[in-house]
Amino acid sequence: MIHTRISGTGSFLPGDAVSNEALIAARGLDSSDEWIVERTGIRSRHLAAPGVTSSDLAFEASRRALQAAGRTAADVDLIIVATSTPDYVFPSAAALLQSKLGNTNGAPAFDVQAVCSGFVYALTIAEKFIRSGSHKCVLVVGAEVFSRILDWKDRGTCVLFGDGAGAVVLEASDRPGLLSSAFHADGSHHGILSVPGQICGGVVTGDPFLRMDGQAVFKFAVKVLADVANEVLDAAGMTAAQVDWLIPHQANVRILQATAKKLHISPQKCMVTVDRHGNTSAASIPLALDEAVRGGRIQRGQHLLLEGVGGGFTWGATLLKF
Ligand code: UT7
Repeated sequence: MIHTRISGTGSFLPGDAVSNEALIAARGLDSSDEWIVERTGIRSRHLAAPGVTSSDLAFEASRRALQAAGRTAADVDLIIVATSTPDYVFPSAAALLQSKLGNTNGAPAFDVQAVCSGFVYALTIAEKFIRSGSHKCVLVVGAEVFSRILDWKDRGTCVLFGDGAGAVVLEASDRPGLLSSAFHADGSHHGILSVPGQICGGVVTGDPFLRMDGQAVFKFAVKVLADVANEVLDAAGMTAAQVDWLIPHQANVRILQATAKKLHISPQKCMVTVDRHGNTSAASIPLALDEAVRGGRIQRGQHLLLEGVGGGFTWGATLLKF
């Protein structure tokens, strides 16, 4: 049987951390550090400089992941980038990443657009390619420049998000790695979190900024995250007590705490980066994963539960042995 393992992780955050105070001052926001920390747990985020794109961030994260895996771009036979903020309408960020990496072996490259669940979606898709035997070494990336789609006059959303990228190299293995995955969508909730318009060639059609009913998203997120976590645990015949680290999508520290509590996983086992990264959408899970791997908290052999929820609505989880 062909198994799928993570052989390397990498991540990249653009520029210096921007504190709540600095953001409030720079954008003239009617907000406070106290409000943002109390309601979200966010203290700072990173924002890409003008001209820096998702594929640029993806490139830096991918380089690090390939190095950690002991691989080069030439070894990669499939590239999947999860993003809702690609460089262009087309070509995909994945195709641009392939070119930047210098991967010239004709590996297929495509984007997955599932907003904050994008990385879990991409991981689940990549695993199916590896298990089928068609591909052996897949680069899976979450990369976002959400700062480009924020309405800086909407204090209810603009303080929440940040930019960044995270990547993993997934490889075929004879030892178990990814144990179970699940992904879902319910498009009937499209109205509570969306970018209803678009901008192309400098022309705006409709509303090009992120709009969110925060409280509706909050309630939906806590419910489906707990449900999908239990789904992948059941599928693998495991219990929450066997999970060493819960690595949820980083949107709000209160959502992380509520989900961990529902799953009876102690807060100490729940990875938190939202305080320093803000919500980086599809990048948040691989960013948190890489930070913990490089910091030595995540060790080989440990069981990790990754889970995300985002616009669509979409949600999903992956249980794996690292
Ligand atoms: O990646 C998935 C997508 N996102 C999420 O998962 C986010 C989910 N939702 C949330 O995290 C929370 O709902 C928010 C952080 C967005 C909002 O927190 P809340 O506790 O639900 O606050 P609220 O929206 O009910 O707003 C409470 C008050 C309002 O004032 P009034 O009407 O009570 O006078 C807002 O206008 O807080 C006000 N407010 C702010 N005040 C200062 C909203 N944003 C700010 C702000 N600074 N930045």
